[in-house]
Amino acid sequence: MIVILNANPSFDRTLIVDEIKSTGVIRGKKVFKHPDGKGMGAARVLNLFKVDYMCLNILGGKTGSMIYDLATAENLNMRVFKIKNESRINTIVVDKKNNTLVINEPGPFVERKEIERFKIWIQSQIEKFKLSDEDNYFIVGGSFPRGFTRQDFEDILSFVHKNSFKVVIDISKEFLKVALEQHVWMIKVNLHEISDLIPAKNEEIISFVHENYRVENIIITAGRSGSFGRFLGMNFKTIISKSEKRYAVGSGDAYLGGIMYGIANHFKPSSIIKIAAACGAANTEEIGPCVFEKEHVEKWLNLITVREVDIR
Ligand SMILES: Nc1ncnc2c1ncn2[C@@H]1O[C@H](COP(=O)(O)OP(=O)(O)OP(=O)(O)O)[C@@H](O)[C@H]1O
Ligand SMILES: [Mg+2]
Repeated sequence: MIVILNANPSFDRTLIVDEIKSTGVIRGKKVFKHPDGKGMGAARVLNLFKVDYMCLNILGGKTGSMIYDLATAENLNMRVFKIKNESRINTIVVDKKNNTLVINEPGPFVERKEIERFKIWIQSQIEKFKLSDEDNYFIVGGSFPRGFTRQDFEDILSFVHKNSFKVVIDISKEFLKVALEQHVWMIKVNLHEISDLIPAKNEEIISFVHENYRVENIIITAGRSGSFGRFLGMNFKTIISKSEKRYAVGSGDAYLGGIMYGIANHFKPSSIIKIAAACGAANTEEIGPCVFEKEHVEKWLNLITVREVDIR
């Protein structure tokens, strides 16, 4: 089973404007609304490819109900842990030249007693898969809302590891550090997120993380410049033969969804990376996080090459 933790879901409003200005009034020409959060983006990709998964969310207030209603209307497989405070609204502004401004709210404050109950709830959601014959994956898609500490994240990872789940991480800052220290099975982050933490540059990051933190699978994405890493024993680099500046919000989540789709279908490592990169690119075709069609993925598969490389 693929269990996705989408701890800090959001209600995304994407506004289309003529020009992004730093002050004054900007008139929105169109607005698009989507339920989101990094984990939910990956779930949307798995839904498109009809892969079984379960998406765990922390939701609160009227915004939480809106997120839930929109997500279930899309047939996303949602599980909800309710909190008292209100879930967040994120605002994305896109102008005529596809310049994009993203304003992310910090998310609700979660009270200590809610966090303690949440940790027990997560256990009840995952322990039933412990005895299954299939591999189990636990995806941490995005940040935690306020109130969660390093220790809470360590507790969650430790329980998930005890239940033999392979842990896949897309998170940044201090919590990424915790994940590295817990030797998770895979990290999938962008170049800025990892460069903030690791005293190594570009391709050297891979060997640094592998040697110092014993993380087996490391995937680093770099927007239109592609991605590189070490995946199931293969060192790779992807090359995108043609790309434009488009709606790239959520491309990292689409990439992760593609990886999990490939893993669930036991494709070979290079094919999994190619599909993931095609999903990241397909995400740029339409407005909305991880909103795209299979035809977009097909198109991009012809424009992406995966090269096996020597990293050291
Ligand atoms: N304009 C583009 N054209 C083609 N492919 C793209 C483009 N932007 C992103 N991608 C693909 O998607 C992958 C992930 O993108 P990116 O590195 O921007 O993720 P990210 O920074 O984690 O984004 P987010 O956190 O918003 O999901 C890239 O490695 C690349 O394969
Ligand atoms: Mg990302």
